[in-house]
This record gives sequence, structure tokens and C-alpha cells, in this order.
Amino acid sequence: VKEIAALLVLDKMRRKLGFETSVPSLHMSFTGAPGTGKTTVAVRMGQILAKMGYSRRGHVVLATRDDLVGQYVGHTAPKTKEMIKKAMGGVLLVDEAYYLYNAANDRDYGQESIEILLNVMENNQDDLVVAVAGYKDRMDKFFSYIPGMMSRIGNHIDFPNYKSDELVQISEVMARELEYEIDPDAYGVFHNYIQKRMELPFFSNARTVRNAMDRARMNSAIRTFDKFAIRGENGGFCTVNDLKSISAADFQVLVDDIDNADVEKRIFA
Ligand SMILES: Nc1ncnc2c1ncn2[C@@H]1O[C@H](COP(=O)(O)OP(=O)(O)O)[C@@H](O)[C@H]1O
Ligand SMILES: [Mg+2]
Repeated sequence: VKEIAALLVLDKMRRKLGFETSVPSLHMSFTGAPGTGKTTVAVRMGQILAKMGYSRRGHVVLATRDDLVGQYVGHTAPKTKEMIKKAMGGVLLVDEAYYLYNAANDRDYGQESIEILLNVMENNQDDLVVAVAGYKDRMDKFFSYIPGMMSRIGNHIDFPNYKSDELVQISEVMARELEYEIDPDAYGVFHNYIQKRMELPFFSNARTVRNAMDRARMNSAIRTFDKFAIRGENGGFCTVNDLKSISAADFQVLVDDIDNADVEKRIFA
């Protein structure tokens, strides 16, 4: 992202001085597992492009196959064009773009949508940025079937999985945004939870952290309500800190939940 921004800044300065400039294609590909920040970065990128004058509006319109492809003949073109219209002046983010291509069926309506997208990527470059997002291996395969898509995309960014200590740092950031404070001794418990959760199905990086934070806040509320409203501690008065605190016990509930579950049968949040 930094490299792209640097190029755009330099290009702008060159243009001001009357040098030859050629903005490379701004179309982008974001690859990585769920919850690695692809959508978040697309939104930020839109804002950056708008601020720098490379995008008129900088908003992001999120589209999946269902938004672009119809069920019946003649329905696909209008659907795809409608989404493109909404995204004009900003970014059209096609999530799991590879679902547009069906290798087993060359009459799949997705093909029609792909052709329209390729067309606008070529002819409306100056007013629409198309970004595709999804798993890296599937995206590579998609590009191999649709080389025209690959050649129109100037920027490929891969989003690695977060490491467990990065996910702990993210929990700290999220707590701050939500105006909570994680007790210092609670981080170890959260780290333990994340390490266990990473081994289970449907782990999704920072999105799993977001879900864990939601559950921890719920546990904090239950704990605080019980302490003051039910048991009447401190004459029933709780402090501001009580309202903000996420404690080790609030995360321990999540750890216990994994430890006590029949892993074969359960799907975890
Ligand atoms: N580095 C990060 N710091 C803080 N929050 C993050 C970070 N990366 C992702 N998130 C959060 O994780 C969630 C999932 O991110 P998202 O961008 O939707 O992932 P993706 O599109 O790759 O599935 C969002 O709530 C987002 O705010
Ligand atoms: Mg996403």
C-alpha cells in the first residue's frame, strides 16, 4: 500500500512539473484468507485515492457473484451494469471474484459479467477502480483462465495470516475503539484462546478477534451486572472502570467453551 501511495505522490509531482507521467493501472487484486483485512484496506485505499485526486468519490461498492450475475438469460448485463454505475467515481470491490468463472460450464452467465468488467476496466480506468478479492490459490487459477483480468490489474497485494501475537495486538486496538480496557492479566488468557481457536475450523483472523471481543464484552456485562445488581457489592454502585473492564475471566469463558466442547460436532464463533 505504501509503495502504491509513493508512486502516486511522485507521479502527481512529476505531472505538476510537466514531466511525462503514466499512471499505472489502479485496478487491484487483494488476496488472502478471510479476516486478513482485504475489505478494510480497500476502503482505506478508496479514501487515499480520493484525497490524492485519483478517484472522484473514493467510495467502495462491495459486490459478490449474486450482485453481478442473474439467474436467467438477459439478467446478467443489467445487474453488472447497475453495480458498475453505483461504483463509478470510486471502487468496485468484487469479493471472491473467481466465482464469476465456472470452468465446468462455458455457458455460465458469469462469463458475461466478466466481459463487461474487463471492458470497463479498460475503457473507464480514469473513473472506476476495480478491485478483486479472495483466496490466493483460487485467484491465481482465475487469472490463468482469464488472462485479460490479470493484465488489467496493476497492483497485487497479498494479505498473510496474522500471527497470534498480532491478533492479540489487534484485540487491544479494538478494545480502544470500543472504549474498553483489557486488564493486563487478561492478555495471556486471550493469547491462549487465540492459539486454541486457530487450530479449529472457520478461524478467520481478525474477524475471529472481533467476534471474541463481542463475546468478552457480553461476559463483562454479565459479570458486572451479577456483582453489583444481583449481589449488591459496593452498595450496588459500580465504577466507570467496571463498565470499561474486560477481565481475564471474560476471556476464560471462551477458552473453557473450547476445552469443554465436543470439537467434532461444534462450530465455533
Ligand atoms: N490490522 C487490523 N487491525 C485492526 N482490525 C483489523 C485489522 N485487520 C482486520 N481488522 C478487522 O477485522 C475484521 C475483518 O477484516 P476485513 O477487512 O473484513 O477482512 P477480509 O475482507 O480480508 O475478510 C474487520 O472488523 C476489521 O476491522
Ligand atoms: Mg472482505
